Amino acid sequence: MSKGKLRLGVNIDHVATVRNARGSAYPDPVRAAKLAEMAGADGITAHLREDRRHITDADIDGLMAALTTPLNFEMAATTEMQAIALRHKPHAICVVPERREERTTEGGLDVLRDEARLAGFIAPLREAGSRVSIFIGADAGQIRAAHRIGAAVVELHTGAYCDYHAEGDFAARDAELARLTEAAALADSLGLEVHAGHGLTFDTVQPIAALPQVMELNIGHFLIGEAIFIGLAEAIAQMRRLMDDARS
Ligand code: PXP
Repeated sequence: MSKGKLRLGVNIDHVATVRNARGSAYPDPVRAAKLAEMAGADGITAHLREDRRHITDADIDGLMAALTTPLNFEMAATTEMQAIALRHKPHAICVVPERREERTTEGGLDVLRDEARLAGFIAPLREAGSRVSIFIGADAGQIRAAHRIGAAVVELHTGAYCDYHAEGDFAARDAELARLTEAAALADSLGLEVHAGHGLTFDTVQPIAALPQVMELNIGHFLIGEAIFIGLAEAIAQMRRLMDDARS
């Protein structure tokens, strides 16, 4: 049985990527976020990276002021980001691993290796009222560690599943989907809320949306790319329909 409506968080980082490519003031990610809300997004996700390569501090100020849906603030587990999060107190914080040389968030957080520090890192964020999510791979040890450190949510990394699909390696894709299915069930059994995201497209979203424990998907790059062809509102509406169909 599904636990109800699956939420869609729209990640607007790559609107800022396009803006920053020219050093201009447009396209404005806050405007995109408002449009996404009107088109059916249940929340907005933005990743303030250490190198500010897309979203900037001013964008976070703008989003906090303008949004009517919750902001999911993605960040690395650094003291700088912790201070910014404590200043804004966003509805949700997703802690992600970050490496300067990566093009995008490549893997999940290694909670097992950094358990004591991460427990201390998220405690003040929770006390400030933010729901803390940990971005991890489909791994039982990491899920149990996320639970131990006091996270409310785990976001399961769907990047490998999507990559295998794109490469046409359907056996590996299905094996990864089986791991994600087991991981969602385990996290839910521990009382963690389950989210998922990374790399999802119209072609890959439905098997993930169909996992009954998954409560939220965070999707960005594909939607912003598709917006070039069909518009952001229509891309979000189509994604929403696919998610709802998979759920019913
Ligand atoms: N979830 C997390 C934790 C992410 O880091 C990202 C990428 O910023 C996404 C979801 C969205 O991934 P994509 O842009 O590939 O849809």
